[in-house]
Formats: sequence, structure tokens, C-alpha cells
Amino acid sequence: MKIGIFDSGIGGLSVLHEAYHQLPGQEFMFYADTDHVPYGLKTPEQILGYAQEITEFLLQKGAQAIVIACNTATSVAVKELRKNYNIPILGMEPAVKPAVEGTEEKRIMVIATPVTIREDKLKDLLHRVDEDHRVDLLPMPKLVEFAEREEFESEAVEDYIREQFSQFDKDKYCALVLGCTHFNYFKPAYRKYFGDNVLLVDGNKGTVRHLADVLGLQVAPDADKDLDEEHNILCLRNTEYFFSGKEIGEGKTLEHLKRLHLRLEEIRNI
Ligand code: DGL
Repeated sequence: MKIGIFDSGIGGLSVLHEAYHQLPGQEFMFYADTDHVPYGLKTPEQILGYAQEITEFLLQKGAQAIVIACNTATSVAVKELRKNYNIPILGMEPAVKPAVEGTEEKRIMVIATPVTIREDKLKDLLHRVDEDHRVDLLPMPKLVEFAEREEFESEAVEDYIREQFSQFDKDKYCALVLGCTHFNYFKPAYRKYFGDNVLLVDGNKGTVRHLADVLGLQVAPDADKDLDEEHNILCLRNTEYFFSGKEIGEGKTLEHLKRLHLRLEEIRNI
């Protein structure tokens, strides 16, 4: 099965990385729209246009299913894409449901891009699952920039996280929902700020499990085992990577992608 996964940038790699764990036998294409990142500061019309263009591209390359590994693009484009294309198209939304169901009483913080926070999709989700009004929303667009620069643990990152969260009382929180795929890379920094008692919740495992379900694929029985470096590189070599339509072959960019997969492996279970 050839599966296309796309995002505005490197955030979606966290979904692909999870797919390496759960669905190691499949063929993947990964598309990062590096010419247009960040999506979170664009208009819905622009984002819909990019998402349509990418979907066409991946279909032409033989995709039999598509994962929008981007909460922002999902909020504005998933309905339209499903209307227009006749293959399974999966989206992502902030994993609020597992956070609400997996915790009690204390508050839950959802961080995402400004577009995801503004769009009705998240409001509808909260309406359905946040019955006790425990959820707060916080846009953190700068984390996307830091991630694209591969700056994950600098002082500037820590300062930004501290500043953004300073308007809230951190002791009141039991969970932090990472509602943007780019935000996964900063798990150690959130841990440092919130300590060990806050649950970090992302939608990656659930999304890939759902993908397997929809496509009738078997999830690897050892999906939770660590991927050693060699296996990681093997998966990487078997994936076709595109940056805004340009294929990534050997060279510096592939090295960059390799580093990112190694980081994602390191922080997978933080
Ligand atoms: N990775 C994206 C998301 O999950 C969007 C980041 C951006 O381009 O602003 O929302």
C-alpha cells in the first residue's frame, strides 16, 4: 500500500515516524510544504489551495491513501479534500478526547497554531468532549519556526515556553495536548517546565492506528519497541521525500531528515 503523508514542514515527520513503528512494511511518501511553512499564520483559503495541490501531487505519484499530518490543514481542508478525492483521506485533530478521558479534575492545556485554535473544527470537538470545561487553548506559532530551524532545546525555546505559559498557573494542569505536529520535538522542554506529573498527549499513535484500521492493515506486534538506528535508516531510505514538490535524494537534506527521525525516536515516550 502506498501512503502519502503531508504537512507544512517537518512536524508531519512525527506521524511518519510512528508509522515506521506500527506499519513497517508499507511504502510511504512524505511531503513537506517548505515553500509555504508556516500554515498556522496563513488564511484558510491559502491553506486549502496548498492542501489541494499537494493531494494532486501525491495522487499522481501513486498514493492510495493520504494522511494530513497537520492539524492546521486538517481544520480547513479535510472536508473539501474528502469531497473531491475518492481515496481514504485521514486528518488530525488535537488529542483532546484522550486527555479528557485519561485525567480527572485538573485543567488541560491545548497548544496549537492560531488557525487551528480559530477554526470551528476544534470548537466542535470541545463542545463534544469537554463537558466540564477543563480545557484552555494557547496558540504557540513560534514553536513552528524553532522546529523548522532545528532549534529544540535552546534558551530561546525555553524562554518562549515560559513566557507563553506564564499567564496560567502551571500547578492547575494535569495534561498538555500537543495540537500541532511540529510541537512534538519540544517534549523535553515542556517536561522541564511542567515537571513529571503532567501528561503530554499527542495524536500520533492514535492517528496511525486509525490509518491501519481504515486500510485493513495489521499493526506490527512490536510497534512499541525502540527502532534502532539501522532500522530507522532503512525506513528512511524506503520513503520518498518531497519538499514542496522537489524530490529529496542523497545529501544534506537527507542527513537533516535522519537527525530528525533519531530525535523523534529519542523523545517518543517522554
Ligand atoms: N504542523 C502543523 C500542524 O500540525 C502546522 C504548522 C504550521 O505550519 O504552522 O498544525
